[in-house]
Amino acid sequence: MSDLVADKVNMVFNTKGGGTVHALKDISFTLKQGELLSVLGPSGCGKTTLLNIIAGFNRPTGGAFYLGGEEISGPGLNRGMVFQQGALFEWLTVAENVNFGLRMKGSDKKETAQKVEEWLDIVGLQGFGNTPTYQLSGGMQQRVALARCLINDPDLILMDEPLGALDALTREKMQTLVLKIWKETGKTIMIITHSVEEALLLGERLFVMAPRPGRLHKEYQLPFAEQGLTTDPREIKNSAQFSETREEILTMIWNMEEEIMGKTNAA
Ligand SMILES: Nc1ncnc2c1ncn2[C@@H]1O[C@H](COP(=O)(O)OP(=O)(O)OP(=O)(O)O)[C@@H](O)[C@H]1O
Ligand SMILES: [Mg+2]
Repeated sequence: MSDLVADKVNMVFNTKGGGTVHALKDISFTLKQGELLSVLGPSGCGKTTLLNIIAGFNRPTGGAFYLGGEEISGPGLNRGMVFQQGALFEWLTVAENVNFGLRMKGSDKKETAQKVEEWLDIVGLQGFGNTPTYQLSGGMQQRVALARCLINDPDLILMDEPLGALDALTREKMQTLVLKIWKETGKTIMIITHSVEEALLLGERLFVMAPRPGRLHKEYQLPFAEQGLTTDPREIKNSAQFSETREEILTMIWNMEEEIMGKTNAA
């Protein structure tokens, strides 16, 4: 099993002025294979830092992450990333973007082409293989980014604000797509978002992080992602339980921001 285990992960950055930032403090959790986790928290609480360490781009200053029992010590094919935007090769076609990982591995061309077709189909881009990527809308580009990540069959998918640059309607459609992919592939997914609604809808588990030092503040176990597989997200968002949880979390984050402002003003 490819569980992700965080064991007392700490990250302390040295700043240019000679000070330090405790970006992550004693982060411990286990994400089981196939779980869908969303991470929410005020700006600067360490969300991207957390994801970058799991991706292997940074080493923690204390503790460690383990995936499938192996310590994460650098980037690897068992993890796939989807960023907010701009991570595609715009001058290549859609298919050339999607098959990038497989081409680098020297996989069979015919098999690769078939897989590309399959994934374009799943993300709703059937027939767009030969289109230059720069000609696509933002929403379509994020579909390419998803396909490019998934075709490599990673154990863990890491997403940092993947839908943040999209308009509201496209974003809703993409949320449903993420749920569909989660159901159909059984992948473990960790998604960072600034949107409380998105975190609630996409998080079978939801972590709310607090800043200074960045830490896990509260965890929720939520029914909405499961419901979203069969029910219109609009309906779910209108339910009493959804609204109540949203208000609770908004108040929580609002209070954190107030506290930060207070600290900043006092400094
Ligand atoms: N390379 C670095 N050197 C020094 N400090 C850093 C570095 N990277 C991040 N930090 C600091 O660590 C803290 C956490 O940053 P991080 O980018 O993880 O926050 P975030 O939760 O992703 O914020 P946002 O919601 O704005 O994206 C911040 O105080 C940031 O300034
Ligand atoms: Mg960030």
